[in-house]
Amino acid sequence: MKFEVLTIFPEIIECYIKHGVLGKALNKGIVEVKVYNLRDFTSDKHKKVDDYPYGGGAGMVMQIEPFYNAIMHLKADEKPRKLVLLSPQGRKFTQKLAQKFMEESKAMVLICGRYEGIDERVKAFVDEEVSIGDYVLSGGELAALVIIDSVVRLIPGALGDELSAVEDSFMKGFLDYPHYTRPEDFKGMKVPEVLLSGDHKKIALWRKRQALKNTLKNRPDLLKNLSPEDMRILKELC
Ligand code: ADE
Repeated sequence: MKFEVLTIFPEIIECYIKHGVLGKALNKGIVEVKVYNLRDFTSDKHKKVDDYPYGGGAGMVMQIEPFYNAIMHLKADEKPRKLVLLSPQGRKFTQKLAQKFMEESKAMVLICGRYEGIDERVKAFVDEEVSIGDYVLSGGELAALVIIDSVVRLIPGALGDELSAVEDSFMKGFLDYPHYTRPEDFKGMKVPEVLLSGDHKKIALWRKRQALKNTLKNRPDLLKNLSPEDMRILKELC
């Protein structure tokens, strides 16, 4: 899968992607990330990418021209790609959307804005506007990284252990169960007995109960369309 990122801060993206799962996926050739500096697509000699807002108001607005030039440059190869504009006004990004992007898009362009906003006319050249949550960031770079990271985790072969993505929070519709590793006893805080029992059936049931308990406590909104078995466990917990 290929990601192309348009930003005025290429270093932010380039630094993050070198590490961990993403770095390994890049080395394995499962993923390709190309980062483009929007300032390389200005016709202004000072490489200016922003200007004052029409109608007045605080802050600067990113101009359409560098975005348009960069998008036309990418599209010149005529290969299909999904163009996504990162903005707090977009459709909310979820694990489900990450899965959809992984399954349906061979190539994605992630377009990062800065300052107070982007000239509205940029939207005429994108396929989707996506927000990573109901808060405002200083720019789209973190959002682009969130999307790249969560989509890459889902690509078969990207994770060392194929099962780990399936075990992630949200993959099964609720939050993750608690994890423990050595030492068995840390200053009197003991690993739950059941995890040392070697009884895989019991462990699976304990994990399911804990996952439901975590979800009930922190994200009750996720407890929809439960199976009869999950409903039974949930009733026991209440
Ligand atoms: N840019 C600024 N805030 C954002 C958000 N919440 N999601 C995506 N892009 C953004």
